Amino acid sequence: MKPVQFNNTVLRDGHQSLAATRMTTAQMLPAAPILDEMGFAGLETWGGATIDACLRFLGENPFDRLRALKKAAPKTPQLMLLRGQNIVQYTSFPDDVVEAFIRADAAAGQDIFRIFDALNDPRNLATAIKTVKACGKHARGEICYTTSPVHTVENFIKLGRELREMGCDSIGIKDMSGVIVPKVAYELTKQLKEKVGLPVTLHTHDTAGLGAAAYLAAIEAGVDIVETSISPFANGTGQPDTLRMLALLEGHPRCPSFDLQKLAQLREYFTDVYKQLSKFTSPDNERVDSDTLIYQVPGGMLSNFRNQLKEQNMSDKFTEVMAEIPRVRAALGFIPLVTPTSQIVGTQAMLNVKFGRWKTIAPAAADIALNKYGRPPGVVDAELLKLIKERTGQTPVEGRPADALTPRMPKLREELAAKGLPTDDEACVLWAMFPQEFAKLHAPKPATPAPGNAEPQLGKAATPTPTPTPAPAASPAAAQPAGPGKRYRLTIAGQTTEAVVEEL
Ligand code: CO
Repeated sequence: MKPVQFNNTVLRDGHQSLAATRMTTAQMLPAAPILDEMGFAGLETWGGATIDACLRFLGENPFDRLRALKKAAPKTPQLMLLRGQNIVQYTSFPDDVVEAFIRADAAAGQDIFRIFDALNDPRNLATAIKTVKACGKHARGEICYTTSPVHTVENFIKLGRELREMGCDSIGIKDMSGVIVPKVAYELTKQLKEKVGLPVTLHTHDTAGLGAAAYLAAIEAGVDIVETSISPFANGTGQPDTLRMLALLEGHPRCPSFDLQKLAQLREYFTDVYKQLSKFTSPDNERVDSDTLIYQVPGGMLSNFRNQLKEQNMSDKFTEVMAEIPRVRAALGFIPLVTPTSQIVGTQAMLNVKFGRWKTIAPAAADIALNKYGRPPGVVDAELLKLIKERTGQTPVEGRPADALTPRMPKLREELAAKGLPTDDEACVLWAMFPQEFAKLHAPKPATPAPGNAEPQLGKAATPTPTPTPAPAASPAAAQPAGPGKRYRLTIAGQTTEAVVEEL
């Protein structure tokens, strides 16, 4: 029996789930060569919320981070998490922007692309998979795992087959909320291996304390790779810790071999970094929280959500907002909760608690009901859809959402040229997704480093200074009583959305 392989997530999901994505490149670099020597099948270093966090909070160019990490860890393939047609943002981009992003990323050294769509709509993965293959890179098609009356093993296998037909090299089971129970992990892995015939990776979170047991069950069923992290950026809302997983597999015929001394060295190093990021960590993210089984909120979102509610003085409403999440999710057709749907559902749940259920509908939530993100897996609540049709005057779209978008690359190049900024693919895609932050990155630097922008010393990463969220979080306006036609700006888990309050 082949030993199971481990991917390591500490440089991406680990700190995204446990420290609000604030680990800096300088904090990563000293560990990268050691991680590279360990024999991990892959290092997840990029994508997800890291691009946004690099630009918004750390004043870093994310492509420079990737190049630096490739140089520091050249042997182990590096992975990124790509949100299909949304790239690393919250809404769809035209095909030419998706293609340019993947080309630029591949050129910067990306090896493996984990590609998912929040609704599991394969049409939203097609362009990304095709482009990754055209660049000669590995496309791992992700199945977003969630539980609902419409999310059966049979339907997941069907999606796995579609991903294979679309050219994926391997299949990932992406359990962003840590809700896969061992029995299902076993069954799903076994059937994917038998019926789809591609290598399978299981990615879970230990939020509800099920992660390591789910991995063990999947290993019994023949999973090729599981993803672990390094404590303290592990367990809780993150991936199970590598050492813990090894202990669980001791004496198992598929137990892989790792240098325990080096693992201890990494743990010591990251313990120091974790302390430096204490402004962004929370004991709530470290403990087993079986509430996630009910709320199905991904680890990364739980971590950000707690911070955001705290910033908005809504911490006391945490339980109420969380209890509203499954209701919103069911009404929107049992969509999986993963970026961006987790933020959209989270925002809507907050609006429902703040103003009364469906009194205010966030534009993005309306767009989900109108199929603008793709096909929801289940049926949108008829009453809600009626309300949305009345308020927006729109009907649900058919067809692939990105087909309605016009190509943007020529225009993006023009805009950048007019501003005297770089016009290559890297610049264009960052400009398309994060215009303000990208412009800020290229603005003349002040003589003294901006907060959160200080250059930490290698090996001894500096204590970061928290950078305030640029968009006002539930701006003071939101504290005023709701009135018809008033606009409110809300920031949840890094996503700012505008909402118009209407009296019903
Ligand atoms: Co994850």
